Amino acid sequence: MMTINSISYAIIGAKDPATWRSFGLDVLGMMEAPSGSESTVLLRCDERPFRFMVVAHKTDALLATGFEVGSQKHFVELCEALTAAGVGYEEGTAEEASERRVRGLIKLLDPAGNAIELCHGAALDYVKFVSPQGIDTFETGVNGDMGFGHAVLPAPNLKDTYRFYTDVLGFADSDYMHFQFSDEPEDEGMGLHFLHADNPRHHSLALFQGESVANCIHLMLEVTSVDEVGYCLDRALEREIPITSTLGRHSNDRMLSFYMMTPGGFPLEFGCDGLQIDWANFTPTVTELPSIWGHKWGG
Ligand SMILES: [Fe+2]
Repeated sequence: MMTINSISYAIIGAKDPATWRSFGLDVLGMMEAPSGSESTVLLRCDERPFRFMVVAHKTDALLATGFEVGSQKHFVELCEALTAAGVGYEEGTAEEASERRVRGLIKLLDPAGNAIELCHGAALDYVKFVSPQGIDTFETGVNGDMGFGHAVLPAPNLKDTYRFYTDVLGFADSDYMHFQFSDEPEDEGMGLHFLHADNPRHHSLALFQGESVANCIHLMLEVTSVDEVGYCLDRALEREIPITSTLGRHSNDRMLSFYMMTPGGFPLEFGCDGLQIDWANFTPTVTELPSIWGHKWGG
C-alpha cells in the first residue's frame, strides 16, 4: 500500500530569509506568497500556497521536509503504523497546520535524524501563479499532485533509514546506485536509494549513505522545457551563484539538469525531462553511472 502521495514542501532555516527571497524570485523564478511575517518567506511554484517556507533561524539549513498523505484515512492509518513500528512522533499544532495550509500534520525524525513532516489536506491557492522570471509552469502535476520535485537526504545508517521509508511509510524502489571510491577490499562504498511515492515522478526522495553539511544533499525543481533550464543557468551565472554541477542528463530519471548552491548551504538541482512512470509496469533498476553525459561536479 502506498500512502505517501508526494513531497509537498521544504522548511528552510535562514540567517537572513531575504537572501532566499532574491534567490527564489530572481534565480529560480518562484513567486513570493504573503506570509504575514517579516521573518518568513514563502515561495510558490504552482497552485500550492508555498513549496519552500524560509524561516529566520540561527543557521542556514534544511529544517524539515514535508510529505503529503492522500487522505485523512491514510493519515490516521500511517500514524497507527508508526506507533506499531515503535516510531515516535509529535502532533502538529493547529497553528502549525494553519501556517502550512494543511488540515493536519505530524512531525518526526527518520532513523538518520532527518526532520520530516507528514501532512494531509493541503489547500490550493487560487491566486494565479505568475513567475517573476516568466516561467509558464513548473512540472508538478495536476493541482501539484506530483509534489514540488524531489529531495535527497543524508542517511549514513542507510539500511535502517531505507527500511523506515519503505516498510513503514510505504515508499517503493525506483533505482539503486552504489559508489565505490577505491579498490580497497574494506571500502564498502556508499549506496543511494531512489524511492517513489504515489505519483509518476521517478523519485520523490532519495537516501544517500553519507553526511551532509546543511541536512540536505539536494532539492530538485523541475520545469517543462530545456530553455527554462538554460535561462535559469544564465540567471545563476549572472548573479555569480556557485554552479556545483554542470549541465548533464541523469541516467535513471533522464533529468536534464544543473546544480547550484542555494543560500541554504545545500545545492538545488534545476531540470526538465524527468521520467514519469507507470508503476504498475515497472521493475526497479540498478544504475552504475549517475549521468549519461555532463554533470561535472565542482564545475
Ligand atoms: Fe536529483
